[in-house]
Amino acid sequence: MLAGRRVVLGVSGGVAAYKSAYLARRLVEAGAVVRVVMTASALHFVGPQTFSAITGTPPVTDLFSGPAVSPHTELGQWADVVVIAPATAATLSRIATGLSEDALVATVLASKAPLVLAPAMHTEMWEHPATRRTMALLEADGHHVVGPGSGPLAMGDVGTGRMSEPDEILAAVDAVLGGSPMGGVRVLVTAGGTREPIDPVRYLGNRSSGKMGFAIAEEAVARGAVVTLVTTADFTGDRGVEVVAVETAQDMAEAVWARAAESDVAVMAAAVADFRPADPAGTKLRRKDGPPGLELEPTPDVLAGVAASDDRPFLIGFAAETGPSDGAIEKARSKGVDLLVANDVTEDGSGFGTDTNRVTIILPDGTVEPWPMLTKREVAARLWDRVAEMRTGGSS
Ligand code: PMT
Repeated sequence: MLAGRRVVLGVSGGVAAYKSAYLARRLVEAGAVVRVVMTASALHFVGPQTFSAITGTPPVTDLFSGPAVSPHTELGQWADVVVIAPATAATLSRIATGLSEDALVATVLASKAPLVLAPAMHTEMWEHPATRRTMALLEADGHHVVGPGSGPLAMGDVGTGRMSEPDEILAAVDAVLGGSPMGGVRVLVTAGGTREPIDPVRYLGNRSSGKMGFAIAEEAVARGAVVTLVTTADFTGDRGVEVVAVETAQDMAEAVWARAAESDVAVMAAAVADFRPADPAGTKLRRKDGPPGLELEPTPDVLAGVAASDDRPFLIGFAAETGPSDGAIEKARSKGVDLLVANDVTEDGSGFGTDTNRVTIILPDGTVEPWPMLTKREVAARLWDRVAEMRTGGSS
């Protein structure tokens, strides 16, 4: 459930901060993308370099000295979940009362993501009426509290207030994300443009960058899906995605058909060649021999193969149109899809290589839903919301 999920790990100033480094490691091992925010007090207990090395990104340690203009809103909006371990009495109190003076509490307040708190403090502090009031407020706000446990504390003391072990906190984060909308849904996505060899150095290709398919794959992972991405383009995004690199329509067909039956949803966002050179040259074609007469033959129709299979997934096709989407309405009927996403690839800001896209959703019954110009990630998010409605009549 943690694969590909975006976790903000908040570290406040307690001895247990040394265990947060291990928690960060365990989250990374589970496939999560982890960003760390440290309070000034935390810096007395563990160095930011430790977290940089584990997560690959330097922690945010204050609101004003780093490169980001607004680190707390960036992180808060980015996070799928925020976990604070250790959460000291002071940090808990600031969260409960909204006192967002430091980067950590500001990030919490700037986030709509679920919040997991792992308190750590001496027994007297944990039992103090002020902390009792704080915890009551935090629980009433719906935050998730893990621990504290009992055992050895700082300074040789023993009692309640010991931070839960990193694996317990990891399990709590996992459980919180377990309610994710696409938990366990198996998704197959295609992306990029196929390349059909003319000779060993040249190919017939198209302008697809893979961005649309990548956004769909990443949004699905963020919602808890198990995602396989069959792509011709280099994918450097979420670690939670299983990537199958392919080149030609034939490769893509084989990779997709082998995985379609075990998928719940397939999204065919790749731009697949319809024709390929029938007899690619075995050696480089020479200019001196003049223009080659290229005979073309049809490629396999990847989408049609999935649509025709016995145990087929919920199937989403894309249609690259060069004008109004009238042709796509016929495609939605004839291609055997559950939903077709048409985009006019000649419109500015839409289609190939752009970060935005204006799409029209077409259902086989002829329903047409034009969506506004959105980022590709927003298209992906809306698409998954739409698919959830269609698959379950509500949430997925
Ligand atoms: O990758 P980007 O730069 O972000 O660009 C995104 C995109 C423009 C490529 C994407 O939004 C898109 O429109 N993808 C579909 C492109 C396409 O091939 O459209 P089509 O109308 O030719 O094909 C219709 C559907 O059949 C598509 O789902 C396609 O994947 C599939 N197909 C086509 C041919 C073939 N031999 N096999 C197929 O499965």
